[in-house]
Amino acid sequence: MTFARIAGTGSYLPENIVTNQDLEKMVDTTDQWIRERTGIERRHIALEGQTTVDLAEPAARQAIEAAGLAPEDIDLIVFATSTPDKIFPSCACILQARLGIRGCPAFDIQAVCSGFVYALATAEKFIKTGTSKKALVIGAEVFSRIINWKDRGTCVLFGDGAGAVVLEANEETGVLSTHIHADGQYEKLLHVPCGIADGYDQVKAGLAFVEMKGNEVFKVAVNTLGKIVDETLEANQMQKSDIDWLVPHQANLRIIAATAKKLNMPMDQVVVTVNEHGNTSAASIPLALDVAVRDGRIQRNDVLLLEAFGGGFTWGSALIRY
Ligand code: ACO
Repeated sequence: MTFARIAGTGSYLPENIVTNQDLEKMVDTTDQWIRERTGIERRHIALEGQTTVDLAEPAARQAIEAAGLAPEDIDLIVFATSTPDKIFPSCACILQARLGIRGCPAFDIQAVCSGFVYALATAEKFIKTGTSKKALVIGAEVFSRIINWKDRGTCVLFGDGAGAVVLEANEETGVLSTHIHADGQYEKLLHVPCGIADGYDQVKAGLAFVEMKGNEVFKVAVNTLGKIVDETLEANQMQKSDIDWLVPHQANLRIIAATAKKLNMPMDQVVVTVNEHGNTSAASIPLALDVAVRDGRIQRNDVLLLEAFGGGFTWGSALIRY
């Protein structure tokens, strides 16, 4: 049996940091409110002109290097983002050219904060079926570009960044299972209410902003993530205690803590970066994964549970033997 195993990870954060104290000067909020309600202390925000692919490229190069590979070894690129550089070509194609790779399939996936799990699930299937051997999977965003910096309900939550993994075909172990879902009936609880079809003038004018009914999203997120934990464990006939690390989407420390509680897992087995990164949407899981791999917490053969919930609504998980 062929598995897709993580061969290397990488990440990149823009240098510019915006603290809660900086935000206190911009909107009617406090450092205390942001910390208590979300766990966020600071976030990285891309400089003017810095694009999603600009952030993705160093993350991708780092992941390829960590895998001991060269860019030309990559035979599939799957790029998760909701803030692409252009309407087309895809970020995956733009990145492919920057990396000097030619000919392999390259495409974007749009599932907002669940984007990385969707991209991983997709790339894993290409490897399992023998179509690809070495896949580059990226989550990268400049969410700051679709934030209304006058809306305290959303502007304190998000940050920019990029994370990447290289998945390599392996006969022994790797991704054990992936589970992805969506329910479009919740569209208006979390969306950018205009796009190319009827609001392109607003997009061009930089007036296309995230709108979120945070409290309602919160309740559905906690409930749904609890269910995906059960679904993932059942599919693998595993116990909660078999999981070494929870690597969750980093939207809110209270949502993360609820999932850890569901797993009977102490918080020191949970990779938390939301305090430093904010919610970087599709980038948050690969960013968190790379942090914990590089600081030595995550070791080879550890069992990782990745989970995410986001706009759509979309949600998903991946169980991985690292
Ligand atoms: N500073 C101070 N007060 C604020 C702020 C702020 N930045 N933002 C909102 N408030 C106020 C509200 O106006 C409200 O005041 P009121 O009671 O006088 O009306 C009060 O704080 C409570 O607001 P709630 O929205 O009920 O606060 P809540 O505890 O739910 O926290 C939050 C808000 C952090 C947004 C939370 O609901 C959340 O994390 N939701 C889920 C987000 C999520 O997971 N999204 C999915 C992924 S994102 C994606 O896919 C793009």
